[in-house]
Amino acid sequence: MSGASPGYHTTHLGNPHERATMATYNVGYFVGSLSSASINRVLSKALIRLAPDDLEFTELPVGNLPLYSPDYDADFPPEARALKEAISASDAILIVSPEYNRSIPGALKNALDWASRPWGQNSFDNMPAAVIGASIGQIGTAMAQQSLRGVLSFCNARQMTTPEAYIQYSPEVFTDDGEIRNESTRDFLSNYMEEFRTYIERVLTVIPRPQSSPG
Ligand code: FNR
Repeated sequence: MSGASPGYHTTHLGNPHERATMATYNVGYFVGSLSSASINRVLSKALIRLAPDDLEFTELPVGNLPLYSPDYDADFPPEARALKEAISASDAILIVSPEYNRSIPGALKNALDWASRPWGQNSFDNMPAAVIGASIGQIGTAMAQQSLRGVLSFCNARQMTTPEAYIQYSPEVFTDDGEIRNESTRDFLSNYMEEFRTYIERVLTVIPRPQSSPG
């Protein structure tokens, strides 16, 4: 990560003689599903396509982690250390998740638990964050998102509260690689990502990310 301010990347734009620069934000995103046919992965692709140009995205994998136990606190395994380092290199977190039994899928909750520990090294402290999800049912992951908000709140993440986005997935609207055929859905999700970008900027203006430490 480079740039004049902590948490900011510098991108050169246009004519190299002008050397115009703009801040970009690195968004670490979780997909809360391990399914190879995940509709939430499709949603994540759609969101990345629609996002403002100054957001860059890095997936934070959840499927390679052992089950968290405090027994690991003295010596985290490499996968968990990698997760914490990737979050530390992020300026903001986006969670794109299904709802499982009206709550958070276990693999995602496990990843969040890893990232919140060991005690005193909570990776989400003051992190700009947003949640979104797609379901085949009509409530569009509302209950899972409510549970996620409780977790992020306890972890002292700075959550975007509005707009909310509860997506009822339809294969007629989303293509597998994240194109959206329906204009109103496309506009809604574009606006969601634009608002998230504005929100990240606001939070980081007041609470800059700490400089991530090497290795
Ligand atoms: C579900 N599904 C589901 N849907 C919902 O709207 N509310 C729920 O509580 C649940 N619970 C639930 C539990 C389990 C174990 C599974 C496997 C599924 C259905 C869910 O919306 C659907 O399977 C989505 O396709 C899951 O998202 P991904 O994995 O495709 O991203």
